[in-house]
Amino acid sequence: MSERAWENVVVMDHPLIQHKLSILRDIGTGAKEFRELVKELAMLMAYEATRGFQLAETTVTTPITETTTYVLAGKKVAVIPILRAGLGMVDGILELLPAAKVGHIGLYRDPETLQPVEYYCKLPEDIGERDILVVDPMLATGGSAAAAVQFLRAKGAREINLLCLIAAPEGIDEVVRHCEGVKIYVAAVDSHLNDHGYIVPGLGDAGDRLFGTK
Ligand code: PRP
Ligand code: URA
Repeated sequence: MSERAWENVVVMDHPLIQHKLSILRDIGTGAKEFRELVKELAMLMAYEATRGFQLAETTVTTPITETTTYVLAGKKVAVIPILRAGLGMVDGILELLPAAKVGHIGLYRDPETLQPVEYYCKLPEDIGERDILVVDPMLATGGSAAAAVQFLRAKGAREINLLCLIAAPEGIDEVVRHCEGVKIYVAAVDSHLNDHGYIVPGLGDAGDRLFGTK
């Protein structure tokens, strides 16, 4: 793939993000701390991913005087976690964007074929009018994220941003190839996928670590 193909990819190298990501990767980090870190990282990433939001002028009276200031220009946002691990990123984003609506897309990766299998979907009715943040900690083969984006587009979604903590280059290529115009925000691009489709070095299975299922 050409370098231009990754023009919509933003790697967030902020020191706070990198510090928290290191603790998250550590095999010794337990489920409670893992959940807190995923939440904090999602919040930090959303802060950056919303940088392009439009502002509108308003007037505020401070204790000193009246002044012109700026507020968000009525932006409607939908946060769409890919179940299950994407759930861990929702609350951090809602703390920044409390008026956002939340839709859910249930996908799991078949362990043999690594293909995404859909099992649940519930979206805000006005999905086509909202700026969308699809969230999932891991972008491995990219199959799940690409399926979620294509599904959202079929439902009328237009402005789609994908927020993932760790990506494999293969996963980014897959989304770029199949989801034109999607902006991809990641905290790290790792080396490669192993034979089981896990990101190396990665952090293991994000869903299991979040929910303590293994
Ligand atoms: C993980 C992860 C992504 C997917 C990434 O979910 O949270 O959704 O794998 O892999 P891909 O890029 O190769 O599609 P998983 O299927 O393990 O389900 P879970 O969240 O329920 O654990
Ligand atoms: N899903 C995960 O949770 N981790 C990986 O490394 C790949 C897919």
